Amino acid sequence: ANRPDGELPLKGLAVLVTAGPTQEPLDPVRFLTNHSTGKMGYALAEQARDLGAQVTLVSGPVALDAPYGVDVVDVTTARDMFDAVTNRFADTDITVMAAAVGDFRPVEQARDKIKKNGRSGIELELTSNPDILAWAGEHKRPDQTLCGFAMETRDLEANAAKKLNGKHCDMLVANNLRTPGAGFAADTNVVTVLTPGETADRPSIERWSKMGKDALAKRILVKLAAMRADGER
Ligand code: CTP
Ligand code: CA
Repeated sequence: ANRPDGELPLKGLAVLVTAGPTQEPLDPVRFLTNHSTGKMGYALAEQARDLGAQVTLVSGPVALDAPYGVDVVDVTTARDMFDAVTNRFADTDITVMAAAVGDFRPVEQARDKIKKNGRSGIELELTSNPDILAWAGEHKRPDQTLCGFAMETRDLEANAAKKLNGKHCDMLVANNLRTPGAGFAADTNVVTVLTPGETADRPSIERWSKMGKDALAKRILVKLAAMRADGER
């Protein structure tokens, strides 16, 4: 991955990574979340550091240790994550969004614990959260590189192509939750990597075989660095 001159491929670059799930509180004791463990995002942050970048990791609540040499910003809700990213985005060269951001949050957060009170059920009203990746796609300068992730359960390439174009990404890394070795808590992943093609409706598609999340993180970052060097981004 090192350049022929021996210089690290991300030397001198500021890399921002989002990782983990978000939590959306319902009341003081309960929240909505998802199965993300943060492994992919933490692997990206560590590999970016090892490739020479100055790394900021915006992390939802996870059980992983803060990587050494990485500036970790802990957040809880999608709106916290949005604020943390949007405040830092202008100073970032490469942004990789691996977080599993909650799409919706409860409209109201109860001040006190919600009680059963003999009720047979309750209805939850949800409202949408800001889309951080879409915001970054709208605000990025030509010198900035943006990579998103996509988790799908069907129609992987069609859904991922929509996200690549719709959120103005330079790269989108997609995986199917149901592929063996690609799940949430796994140490491996099986991904399809999309980059803008000649025309918007025809992205370039690479199908990468199963590999460890560290190796995958490195390969993603090296590809992003190569795209920048080639002026593709
Ligand atoms: N993402 C984000 N902010 C959100 C939702 C998603 O930044 N509020 C980012 C994720 O970090 C990921 C990408 O967008 O890089 C795709 O996330 P995904 O959940 O697969 O796609 P969505 O656009 O939310 O669409 P859907 O969940 O309906 O498939
Ligand atoms: Ca989503």
